[in-house]
Amino acid sequence: MAYRMIWNQTAYFGAGSIEVIPGELARRGFRKAFVVSDQVLVDTGVTGRVTALLDAAQFPYEVFSDVLPNPPIEKVQAGVAAFGAAGADVLIAVGGGSPQDTCKAIGIIVANPEFSDVRSLEGVAPTKNPSVPIIAVPTTAGTASETTINYVITDVERQRKFVCVDPHDIPVLAVVDSEMMASAPRGLKVATGLDALTHAIEGYITRGAWELSDLFHLKAITTIAGSLKAAADGDPEAAERMALGQYVAGMGYSNVGLGLVHAMAHPLGAFYSAPHGVANGVLLAPVMAFNAENSGERYRDIAVAFGVADAATMPLDEVRVAAVEAVAELTRELGNPTTLGEIGAREEDLPALAQAAFDDVCAGGNPREATVTQIEELYRSIL
Ligand SMILES: NC(=O)c1ccc[n+]([C@@H]2O[C@H](COP(=O)([O-])OP(=O)(O)OC[C@H]3O[C@@H](n4cnc5c(N)ncnc54)[C@H](O)[C@@H]3O)[C@@H](O)[C@H]2O)c1
Ligand SMILES: [Fe+2]
Repeated sequence: MAYRMIWNQTAYFGAGSIEVIPGELARRGFRKAFVVSDQVLVDTGVTGRVTALLDAAQFPYEVFSDVLPNPPIEKVQAGVAAFGAAGADVLIAVGGGSPQDTCKAIGIIVANPEFSDVRSLEGVAPTKNPSVPIIAVPTTAGTASETTINYVITDVERQRKFVCVDPHDIPVLAVVDSEMMASAPRGLKVATGLDALTHAIEGYITRGAWELSDLFHLKAITTIAGSLKAAADGDPEAAERMALGQYVAGMGYSNVGLGLVHAMAHPLGAFYSAPHGVANGVLLAPVMAFNAENSGERYRDIAVAFGVADAATMPLDEVRVAAVEAVAELTRELGNPTTLGEIGAREEDLPALAQAAFDDVCAGGNPREATVTQIEELYRSIL
C-alpha cells in the first residue's frame, strides 16, 4: 500500500501576510499576473488589498472578476480567453472557493488546451502538464481550495456540479491571511465555517483515512468546534484560528476524500444554487447519524473534540448520539438552516437529487454504502 500526500510547496499564515506576495512574485521571476476574483470582492475592496500591493511594487496585472458562485463552465472558458489576451505568466486567485476553483480550471486548461470543453476534466483528469502557477489567497474560511487538489465546476445546462481531482492544479503558494476574510458577512462566515467543519469530520471518517490524515482532521475538528461561533461573531483571534483550522482540514481531506455530505450537497448547488456551506450545514448531522454504526470509535473522538462531558468514558452507542447532537446543536446555534425546504428543495426533485448524489465522486469515500433509495430517504427526512 502506498499513501500519497500532496500539499502546497509554500504557504504563509497570519493577519497581514498578503504583504509577502510582491516579493514572492519577484523571487519566482514572474512578469505579469492575472488576478481571478469576483465582482463583490472587487466592489468591496477586498481584491484591491492585493492589487494595491502589486501597484506599489509596480508589478503588472489584469483583473478578471467575472466569476459566479457555484462557478459555471462558461466563466472558466471566458477566463481562459481573457488569460490568453492578457499575456500573463502567473495566476493570483483572490476569493472564496468559487474564484479559487475557476482559477484552477483556467490554469489547467491554459496548460492543457485539449480539455477546453471543461466537462472532460470531471473526476481524475489525465492532464499532462501542471497548471499555470497559482498563488491562492482565500477570502473565506472555508473551502481550503488553496491547498486541495480539487476544484468544483457547475454545468448549468445539464444541472450538474462536478468535482475535478488533479494534483496538477495545486497552487504553488497559498497565503492564508485572516484579514482577507474579515469583511465576510456573518451568514457567509457561518456557511463557510460549516463547510470546513464538514471537511474535517467527513475526512476523519472517510474510507481512505489513515494515521497522517487523522492528525490533520482531529486538529481541524478541535480548532473549528472551538472557534467558529466566536469567529462568526467577529472575534479576530477566533478568525485567525478558523483560517488555520480550515486549511488544516484541507491538508487532510484533499488527500483522502470526503463522503455523502458533499455528494448530497453538490446537487443542491446545481439545482437550487444553494450556497455550498449552507447545504453542508443542513446535511452534516443527519448524514453523521446515518453513518454512526460504520464509524468505529471515531465519533468518540469527535465528541471529545467538541468538549462533550464524559465523552471519553461513555458507552459507544451513547457517545455516537452525543457527537451527532453536538454538531446539530452548533449548527442551530449558528443559525444555519436545518431543513432542505429552507434552501428551496422540492419533493418532486428528490429522485433526481438522489441519483446525482449517488453518482458524485465524493460518495465513494463514505464509510457506509448508501443506495439511491437510502439517499432519497435521507433527503426526504430533512425536507
Ligand atoms: N476546491 C475545493 O477543494 C473545494 C472544497 C469545498 C468547496 N468548494 C467549492 O467552493 C465554492 C464555495 O466557495 P465559498 O463558500 O468560499 O464561497 P464563494 O466563493 O462561492 O463566495 C460566496 C459569496 O461570498 C462573497 N465573499 C467571499 N469572500 C468574501 C469576503 N471576504 N467578504 C465579503 N464577501 C465575500 C463572494 O463575493 C460571493 O458572493 C463551491 O462551489 C464549492 O463547491 C471547493
Ligand atoms: Fe466543501
